[in-house]
Amino acid sequence: MKKRVGVAILGLGVVGGGTYRTLVDHREFYLKTQNVDIVVESVLDKNTARLKELGVPEECIAGSIAEVVANPAIDIVIETIGGVGVAKEFVMMALKEGKSVVTANKEMISKCSHELERIAKRNSCGLYYEASCVGGVPIIRTLLDGVQANHVLEMMGIVNGTTNYILTKMTQDGTDYQTALKEAQALGYAEFDPTNDVEGFDSTYKLSILSSMAFHTKVPYTKVHREGISSVKVEDITIGKEFGYTLKLLAIGKNTPSGIDVRVHPTFIPDAHPLASVNDAYNAVYLRGDALDDIMLYGKGAGAFPTASAVVSDVIYAATHSEIKYSTFKNNATADSDVKFVTDFSSAYYIRLSVDDQAGVLAKISSIFAKYGISIVEIAQKSKNAGEERVPLIIITHKTHENAMKNAVAKINASDMAAVEAVIRVEA
Ligand code: HSE
Repeated sequence: MKKRVGVAILGLGVVGGGTYRTLVDHREFYLKTQNVDIVVESVLDKNTARLKELGVPEECIAGSIAEVVANPAIDIVIETIGGVGVAKEFVMMALKEGKSVVTANKEMISKCSHELERIAKRNSCGLYYEASCVGGVPIIRTLLDGVQANHVLEMMGIVNGTTNYILTKMTQDGTDYQTALKEAQALGYAEFDPTNDVEGFDSTYKLSILSSMAFHTKVPYTKVHREGISSVKVEDITIGKEFGYTLKLLAIGKNTPSGIDVRVHPTFIPDAHPLASVNDAYNAVYLRGDALDDIMLYGKGAGAFPTASAVVSDVIYAATHSEIKYSTFKNNATADSDVKFVTDFSSAYYIRLSVDDQAGVLAKISSIFAKYGISIVEIAQKSKNAGEERVPLIIITHKTHENAMKNAVAKINASDMAAVEAVIRVEA
């Protein structure tokens, strides 16, 4: 017997609209291939023009969230509103009524999944969020059902399409940051207020979700070291290329013997690294498991239909599995007390200085690095930029500790012979 499952969609923006069309247009296909009849019973959105544009029939338009959660024909509620306020309130109402929730909301899941999951468990319903991380790329399912045989040792991801688009423009066309940002806004990648993407918040939420799942322990987003791309200069991207590096905003999660190391920051990676060729608004996650070794998932991390693909995959999962899967870690508000987080992490570094072009300057700079135990791999002096007194000096270091680098940078900046203009971490 075919199973009938009723769904409601809250919010018909880009992702909600894509989800609505996918469910309606593929209904017969899911009936044939998944043996389930998924019916959109109800949608909740005040924008009548949007409801019309998507062709939502009058009888499916709900007047309020109360109406949606009281409807016994609805088994699964899809939340595509975004943010934490109203979205969280509506999700809690649905879970309290025993309706499983599917959401694309990374901020809400990263900040509140502990509360929401508790309510879901109490009411024997599910909370699914494949679409919250890396859009159409099935990274959550891969972590839950693909690589669960492994201890995941580390992950490196390009998990934000907007910043990847901007950095690709800066790299390939030499466009400056502000111009590339405007292009990203014109194309609809970046929002009018781009802070969430360009300052790394979006990547931080995603990394907290993915590393909690990968390392089977709660990684609160507040533990993630976060730096965005708004101060990246084309000059450094260009010089990095000469050293064989490509610049990406990486979300890095490592499970190390000294603790969990989670950070989002602009990072140079070798041109030959698989992530270096992930360009434009594409996303990818590269991860290493102890049995599996390395894998990389690549695809569209945003957009109506790629994200709808992830939402609907959760709907199908919820509709066809009687057993509910919850987090494979203790999902509390805070990290477990016995889990350590690395604060003084290790990395190799690219440093651009402007220095006085005089005898002895190089020796003084190397002696500062030596004082903090920082070993230099390469050093190159570039020609003077027009109108400047000082010359650029580029130093690439071996792996060292972040605090050692901060101390060395402070010492150089306190001198009158040089100033540090850029510090970019390098991952192999
Ligand atoms: N704003 C995100 C991005 C998509 O640019 O990748 C949704 O997380």
